[in-house]
Amino acid sequence: MPPQSSGGFGDLYGHTPLEKMFAGADVYGVGFDHYRADRRPLRLAIIGAGGVAQSKWLPALGRLRTLWDPVELVGVADPAEDQGRKVARVHGCRWYHDHGQLLSQEKPDVVLITSPDRFHAEHAQAALEAGVAALVEKPFCTSLAEAEGMCRQSAATGVTLMPIANLRFSPPFRRARQFVASLQGFSADAVLLGKMHLGYDYVDLLEGATVHLFDLTRFLLGDVVEVRARGLGRAEGAHRYPCRQAVISLDFGQAGAAQLFTSASDLSLKPWLRVEVHGQGTWLVVDDVFELVLYDSETGPAKVWKPVLANTLLFDEEFGGYLPQLEHFLQVVRGEEQPSVTPMDGYRAVELITATHLAMASGKAVPLPLDANEADAELALLRSQW
Ligand SMILES: NC(=O)c1ccc[n+]([C@@H]2O[C@H](COP(=O)([O-])OP(=O)(O)OC[C@H]3O[C@@H](n4cnc5c(N)ncnc54)[C@H](O)[C@@H]3O)[C@@H](O)[C@H]2O)c1
Repeated sequence: MPPQSSGGFGDLYGHTPLEKMFAGADVYGVGFDHYRADRRPLRLAIIGAGGVAQSKWLPALGRLRTLWDPVELVGVADPAEDQGRKVARVHGCRWYHDHGQLLSQEKPDVVLITSPDRFHAEHAQAALEAGVAALVEKPFCTSLAEAEGMCRQSAATGVTLMPIANLRFSPPFRRARQFVASLQGFSADAVLLGKMHLGYDYVDLLEGATVHLFDLTRFLLGDVVEVRARGLGRAEGAHRYPCRQAVISLDFGQAGAAQLFTSASDLSLKPWLRVEVHGQGTWLVVDDVFELVLYDSETGPAKVWKPVLANTLLFDEEFGGYLPQLEHFLQVVRGEEQPSVTPMDGYRAVELITATHLAMASGKAVPLPLDANEADAELALLRSQW
């Protein structure tokens, strides 16, 4: 279910609560908020202070602090000195070259792991060992064995580990999930059509981008039982990858089926991400992280949820899902909310990436769940040939 963290005001589709706006004469919603200000203070650190940390998470953190959540940024770890020192200067915290020093010297309560994919497992393991709750960027890690180890360590230590699944927290996807869960038309045999126009190939198409679609399909329809896939084109040159486009079929058993199209060859234009869910006499579409349209009648009007572009709107921090997932994670660490994303969701997303590679290479259907060791070994062999 959607998290409850929005300062006691419910799901406002990204807007300042009216109580604050009018009664509080506070259009931007920055006036004193006792719902948030009374929370337990937390010390946050960041491992990997590059593009997504600086452009998405730090603005979301700044906004959350402006809204009175008592979370403080204490330090960042990044071997790139120029970036590390800049972030420390701009955000008023300390820079460390190494994540181990950051964890031992700052003793943060929580850490955001936004380092490159290949370090996620190592950094999460170090955080959990130090008793520090971790929020880990997608993809959760780079193999099923790593994902299993991370799930096991979190369960054994009791320290919170949460994969980043920011689009689940975006208002239109949150609402789409409510419809799929509650409207009769979606109760069985739903069909999901998803597409993503990445438009460039310097990141891995499945690991770096399509993983969002994989996670959203599970969020909306549940667990996948079989994967088929066809990859087209090749990324050559510096970035070798077995396809530039892919068509992927996911079978959800009783819950339905999904057809996904993902592309590094297309233009990187809006709509960049589109998800349709078709039920019985009802379907809905989410375009990017912006607009939801529900069609539930042959003759009645479509129902459209589209943010009003007013001064009161928080855009990327809220609609990209960054602020709501960060706030939810902090509330889980404080013991105020139950996690709505678990380490197993990170594992399942890595499993879908792996199964898609295996299905593309073999041309055959791949049943899930995978045997982690066998599937890792098969994928490692494929990667060595790219
Ligand atoms: N949720 C999303 O929508 C989203 C968007 C973009 C990126 N990401 C994910 O975030 C992660 C980072 O992506 P990015 O685009 O910011 O990449 P980036 O290359 O811009 O940033 C990564 C940073 O990590 C640093 N780093 C490298 N090795 C490190 C180490 N051992 N310890 C600490 N820091 C280290 C680099 O110096 C760099 O500053 C990736 O896993 C990526 O898939 C998620």
